[in-house]
Amino acid sequence: MACKEKTCLVFLLFIFSTVLSFPLGQEKEDSVTCGYQSCHATKANMLNVHLVPHTHDDVGWLKTVDQYFYGDRNNIQHAGVQYILDSVVDQLMKNPDRRFIYVETAFFYRWWKQQTSDMQQTVRQLVNEGRLEFVNGGWCMSDEAATHYSAVIDQMTLGLKFLNDTFGLCGRPRVAWHIDPFGHAREHASLFAQMGYDGFFFGRLDYQDRDRRKKNKEQELLWRASDSLPPPLADLFTGILPNGYNPPEGFCWDQLCDDAPIRDDPDLEDYNVDDVVRRFLFATSNQAKVYKTNHLIMTMGSDFQYENAILWYKNLDKLIRYVNALQANGSTVNVLYSTPSCYLQELHRANLTWPLKTDDFFPYADDAHDFWTGYFTSRPALKRYERISNSHLQTCNQLEVLGGPASRKGPFGEGDSQTLREAMAVAQHHDAVSGTAKQHVTDDYARRLAAGWQHCQVLVSNSLASLSGSSAERIYCDQLNVSVCPLTESSKKFSVNVYNPLARPVVWPVRLPVNGTAYIVTDAGGKSVDSQVVPVSRMTQEVRRNRGFAVNDLVFQVQAPPLGYSIYSVSLRQDGGAAARPQRSAPTVMQNKFLRVTFDPDTGLLSSLSNLETSQSIKLTQNFYWYNASDGKNSQSRQPSGAYIFRPNSSVPMVVSRVAKTESVQTSVVQEVRQWFSPWVSQVVRLYADSRALELEWTVGPLPTEDDLGKEVITRLDTDIKTSELFYTDSNGREVLQRKKDFRPTWQLKQSEPIAGNYYPINSRAFIKDDDNQLTVITDRSQGGGSIQNGSLEIMLHRRLLYDDYRGVGEPLNESSHIYPEGLVVRGCLLLSLDRPASAADVHRPLAQEVVLQPLLSFTDGDLSPNTRLEFSALQAALPSAVHLLTLSQWDKETLLLRLEHQFQSWESKLNSNPVTVNLLKLFSTLDVLGMSELNLSANQWKDQMRRFEWTSQNEEKLLLKTREDPSVWEVTLRPMEIRTFLLRVSFK
Ligand SMILES: *[C@@H]1O[C@H](CO)[C@@H](O)[C@H](O)[C@H]1NC(C)=O
Ligand SMILES: *[C@@H]1O[C@H](CO)[C@@H](O)[C@H](O)[C@H]1NC(C)=O
Ligand SMILES: [Zn+2]
Repeated sequence: MACKEKTCLVFLLFIFSTVLSFPLGQEKEDSVTCGYQSCHATKANMLNVHLVPHTHDDVGWLKTVDQYFYGDRNNIQHAGVQYILDSVVDQLMKNPDRRFIYVETAFFYRWWKQQTSDMQQTVRQLVNEGRLEFVNGGWCMSDEAATHYSAVIDQMTLGLKFLNDTFGLCGRPRVAWHIDPFGHAREHASLFAQMGYDGFFFGRLDYQDRDRRKKNKEQELLWRASDSLPPPLADLFTGILPNGYNPPEGFCWDQLCDDAPIRDDPDLEDYNVDDVVRRFLFATSNQAKVYKTNHLIMTMGSDFQYENAILWYKNLDKLIRYVNALQANGSTVNVLYSTPSCYLQELHRANLTWPLKTDDFFPYADDAHDFWTGYFTSRPALKRYERISNSHLQTCNQLEVLGGPASRKGPFGEGDSQTLREAMAVAQHHDAVSGTAKQHVTDDYARRLAAGWQHCQVLVSNSLASLSGSSAERIYCDQLNVSVCPLTESSKKFSVNVYNPLARPVVWPVRLPVNGTAYIVTDAGGKSVDSQVVPVSRMTQEVRRNRGFAVNDLVFQVQAPPLGYSIYSVSLRQDGGAAARPQRSAPTVMQNKFLRVTFDPDTGLLSSLSNLETSQSIKLTQNFYWYNASDGKNSQSRQPSGAYIFRPNSSVPMVVSRVAKTESVQTSVVQEVRQWFSPWVSQVVRLYADSRALELEWTVGPLPTEDDLGKEVITRLDTDIKTSELFYTDSNGREVLQRKKDFRPTWQLKQSEPIAGNYYPINSRAFIKDDDNQLTVITDRSQGGGSIQNGSLEIMLHRRLLYDDYRGVGEPLNESSHIYPEGLVVRGCLLLSLDRPASAADVHRPLAQEVVLQPLLSFTDGDLSPNTRLEFSALQAALPSAVHLLTLSQWDKETLLLRLEHQFQSWESKLNSNPVTVNLLKLFSTLDVLGMSELNLSANQWKDQMRRFEWTSQNEEKLLLKTREDPSVWEVTLRPMEIRTFLLRVSFK
């Protein structure tokens, strides 16, 4: 189809609208009064106090998400979300002035499903009248330090879709609300802006930053959250709430609180109205001193409050009545029920100029020795499981589209993507992937992901059966990282389907546990592929314990086409030669066509890294160390290291071992140097024949605690790169931010923790550089890290702690499992690449994408049925190197959701930092695109209806965005860092 004109789109839609009506963005604005129209009037010449009744409902923390919903296990924490919603709706009905905001759609959705249609009608009315308002509206309130943007967008989309499907326009939140997360990522702000939010409120920031902002009245600001998207695309008005998210002291009237109720009958004992009003006016005038406008916001609620909502509302009704009564006597304070969006609207009307911020809010400290930088790494196994689950979900989503309806119901039964989508959304919560929930709750998060993947496996099997024409049984091996896969361990002949979720071809190393010594591997074209058999290392045997018995790994490199698969056949060679033998002699060098690494023969440690293409070379030593965690018995502060807080007892880490025992394996496909540092730290340094990156596969644990010392294990790369105290970390896997030791861009830092105060989240990459060399480290999960010495980069890998850190979780972070009762063992991978700074992004952007979206391997035993389609790509051609296919998923029966992303920053690359155009009609090989509409990033608003408040910053003129001029609606142009979201109607070719 070669439609180039807009009329053609209309024509197409006209034709097909007889079959199904495709949404074209024509929504009727009903005569509803939700949103900004539903706000109570304020008084221009008075100080207006916006009381915001709210509850903060963690999607799992001390209890699981379902326990919180039902109010189960109240012995752990008294909290029951179902009762909160029951009670609030009842109280809202009693007085139309009352307001309530609700945030976490994971809970609201559970409650809604259980209501009668009468109750649902009642709630619809409350929503339509703006009395019950959704804010934020994602499935959960995501963590900002350990999340990847892809999963954040998905969880927001899931929650907001439910709200739009259920409530239409009045269900669309206007305000993003992250009152509890422990520090704030710039990328989150950028995403919220692109999702159409008018403003953003949060509660936690560094105590020094807060003090300064209070003094200067800068607690409300304009956050310019991208250095690449032209303003105001990523501008987000940001407000810092006055008391975290709690009420002012003395005004907590929940059943969980002890403050005195308003006793307003003068005939009874203890009449206290005058006292309450006086105290309230005092709190008001104090707050007015640190904000700019004649409007104040007060968050009247907290964790799991409003279970018995009459307590709050009865007292708030009275507070409003008695404070406002004083206006007759000349008081200029006006109190009202309000919501964050009503407050925001008043700030917008104030038409002031606001301070501009371009960095982020990491790290977060609430006191001199209390840096919340431990959770960047806490629970590294869960963090990896969450990241790989995202890869599985994207694959599952894609194959649901590509396989059509047969993927949901097919030869392997009924499968779905929804279970994993919801599990992933729950896992984004700020106590989930952050690693700050209790152990039994963490187990629940992992169990949900596992169940989600089970449902997806059925779908993937059905889809691959439909695409390949073979419904042979399909096996998945989820423990290949420890060389466990029962099928490949025993089979003499099997095939591997390599599905590539990226929109460009990949070359990928595959390692399969086997017991033979030689195999014939052929690709989809029947050509034989170089393969090698190497012995399973001793460390892997120790980690896998009794879960497998393979003595060797079969290693070969596969190529998979864009958004498609390629099938490789493997058969045991009867005349089998010998497996490669490990050499005990000290290795000194490994080299492929891109890289050369050397080792120090005396220590066994890495000693240099060279890029052979660019002829650059650095000194590089890498080793493992551990910080002795503070136990809190310390003269300066009683703060111990814990799930949230990182507080080493000394700034000098202990070395695990100065030397490594080594052995090496050299083959044509892979070269390895295996290093033993101690019984609980080992590593394989690995170089594949076609790889531009050096792989460091670390295995850490069980961390010994017999010495009663909590341990926080890092790996440190020491180089001769001249870094001038600078290093760089990514924000949620997208834009990169510069970090400077003992420095914050927006205020004069008094550094009180030389290590913990210099740690930042690393979601997918970090780098150090000088004029000539850039060393980039790609991580396989979110971790914390820093550059404490010039030329050095350290990454925290694992933590085991013996004390709780007094932030509520009530457990030391001391993980074990039934396989590792003596303490968790964690394995992971770092990829190292050395490049010229000017072109490094051309290497690390695609590398990081390959780690985030990994090929999915699935296996079938024996011979393939003769008509099996051995290779498949859903694309007509690979997408340009700057473009990432971020989302391809089924939206509803007739439509699918597509997100295309420009994955380079504007300054990053000569080659790739340019606008690039993709033609949607020429995208898919198996699908005809029949109709299209563009949406905001979270897919809950048509792009052409997206209007956000405009704000003026102090430091510059308002920039006007030039409108895009597309040559045709089908030609989609992406500028650096831009994501565009489309609903497509398609048919199979
Ligand atoms: C929102 O939901 C309404 C129905 O409630 C639907 O007509 C509309 O298309 C949806 N909007 C978007 C952007 O999906
Ligand atoms: C906002 O203030 C600017 C001057 O600072 C003025 O030009 C503009 O008209 C004002 N807008 C409104 C809506 O009051
Ligand atoms: Zn919370």
